Amino acid sequence: MSALALLQVQALAKAFGGVKAVDGVSFELAAGELLALIGPNGAGKSTCFNCINGQLRPDSGQVLLDGHDIAGRSPQDIWRLGVGRTFQIAATWSSMTVSENVQLALLSKAGRLGQWWGRATRMQREQALELLDAVGLSQLADLPCSTLAYGDIKRVELALALSNRPRLLLMDEPTAGMAPGERNELVALVRRLSHERGIGVLFTEHSMDVVFAHADRIVVLARGQLIAQGSPEAIRQDELVREVYFGSQGAPQGAPQAAPSTAAEGLLLASSRADSSR
Ligand SMILES: Nc1ncnc2c1ncn2[C@@H]1O[C@H](COP(=O)(O)OP(=O)(O)OP(=O)(O)O)[C@@H](O)[C@H]1O
Ligand SMILES: [Mg+2]
Repeated sequence: MSALALLQVQALAKAFGGVKAVDGVSFELAAGELLALIGPNGAGKSTCFNCINGQLRPDSGQVLLDGHDIAGRSPQDIWRLGVGRTFQIAATWSSMTVSENVQLALLSKAGRLGQWWGRATRMQREQALELLDAVGLSQLADLPCSTLAYGDIKRVELALALSNRPRLLLMDEPTAGMAPGERNELVALVRRLSHERGIGVLFTEHSMDVVFAHADRIVVLARGQLIAQGSPEAIRQDELVREVYFGSQGAPQGAPQAAPSTAAEGLLLASSRADSSR
């Protein structure tokens, strides 16, 4: 994939004190590909995201976007280069309508935020409606965000991320707190947008059902290291992945077992359902 890769992560490493949160991780992501980064709690997924989006400076390794190393650059620089991420909508914006929130993001992208408070309420309206249509929210455009259901707020967050026209979209647990049905719908939507618009998407998701149903490819981390990568089919059959999710290597002695065992159940469940869902 190298010649075409949108994102190449090479030998990425980041430690916090003695903890090697990310320990020599390498993977690639193509334009238009939906790549899931999975692993037990504490595996290093968020640290990986934060090294790519500029929130953290890696200790070593490279993060190549179209072949140019962006590791250690500021989050603003990386955002300007077309790397989007989902943010939770700040409570302060919740009294504005859905459309106004997206218009504000579009104005910010155009560097015209200062005009907002004047005569600009109609600015970027058409573009905002297009984006809201893409995420299935055009009917709700003129409602205050504060009146929206939780699942719809998550769609607004996606529209906000898309307003920057990202080539690469980073989504760390975009479905956190959502009901299972809604999780499926949101990730299916992201998959469609990724394929239609050629956006490379890297996401984490704790529901194995959702990951196996939608991801084009999966990268598995455990204790900071990449232990497997490949198609959902290949990952489903990977012995080491199963072992890690069963907790025999995934959790240190004395660590809480709840999350790994939930993930193990999820992996098995996804595995048993995969034939019917794909
Ligand atoms: N800012 C920090 N300071 C110290 N240790 C950290 C920091 N951020 C992460 N860690 C540690 O690094 C390791 C990886 O954490 P990370 O948050 O990247 O895992 P994760 O895979 O995102 O987990 P989860 O599934 O729970 O979100 C963990 O041991 C965590 O305690
Ligand atoms: Mg995390």
